[in-house]
Amino acid sequence: MFPIHRPRRLRKNDTVRAMVRETILSPKDFILPLFVTYGRNVRKEISSMPGCYQESVENIVENAREAWNLGVPAIILFGIPEHKDAVGSGAYDPHGVVQNAIKAVKDAVPELMVITDVCLCEFTDHGHCGVVHEGEVLNDPTLELLAREALSHAQAGADMVAPSDMMDGRVGSIREALDENGFGNIPVMSYAVKYASAFYGPFREAAESTPQFGDRRAYQMDPANRREAMREAVLDIEEGADIVMVKPALSYLDIIRDLRDSCDLPVAAYNVSGEYSMVKAAARMGWVDGNRVMLEILTSIKRAGADLILTYHAKEAAALLNG
Ligand code: PBG
Repeated sequence: MFPIHRPRRLRKNDTVRAMVRETILSPKDFILPLFVTYGRNVRKEISSMPGCYQESVENIVENAREAWNLGVPAIILFGIPEHKDAVGSGAYDPHGVVQNAIKAVKDAVPELMVITDVCLCEFTDHGHCGVVHEGEVLNDPTLELLAREALSHAQAGADMVAPSDMMDGRVGSIREALDENGFGNIPVMSYAVKYASAFYGPFREAAESTPQFGDRRAYQMDPANRREAMREAVLDIEEGADIVMVKPALSYLDIIRDLRDSCDLPVAAYNVSGEYSMVKAAARMGWVDGNRVMLEILTSIKRAGADLILTYHAKEAAALLNG
């Protein structure tokens, strides 16, 4: 009790604060999401996500190299195809935008981990994450297409695949397709706990993947549910997931902590587009110190229990952390 206990003794200066700091953020924690589009020499800024771009392959390679040089070990690729159709053919086209980007990045920066988002929504004309029939997203017929997509990413040289569609059973289907085709060593990072969130708004501009009718609440999770998150994670782990992800991050820190405490796999958290855009907007208005808020948010996600953080801030945060 006071005056014996004075917690301020350990806050006196930078040195002692660093000695007792519990959570240390590092560029190694980050995975940088990138949006690859068709064409050449394209670099189009996403208006709601300053500092993020739709880029053609050569520019993706440059971006990936910069990330690697800053100490960021991985990127995750999203694709914007030239043509979309009802079954998302561009997603499993061996010469699709993502497949081309994987090859180019692996050639240029072989040690960088290239992860791919596995989903149909960027490739379907209706913008949903699966096959649609009479206004409904069908689960089981979608699994085969997702497995084809994941396999084509592996064949192009991807180091890891990350299904984000939220169809039931997709981790198992993907695992099976990879194993049957000689890719038993490619890990699956599952978007195991993915909520139907308004924080994805800016991403849908970035990936041009807004659903043309309805929304995603019939397959993504209800933000009100906590127990269900554990159930989703357990199912994916049983199907062979190697890493489980929670998405979004900031409004779901309790879920990240639950998962960290209840499973022994690495836990990833996705600091999503809307979380990024809010920081950028407030900083532009001069209402917050953008760099400090960014580092505080990333630290909180790690403190909550995330081993890996997917974040659009990866390069700028790494640059600050590297001093
Ligand atoms: C694709 C996908 C989405 C995000 C990642 N993968 C969008 C969605 O589900 O609508 C969102 C990422 C972000 O907001 O940064 N299914």
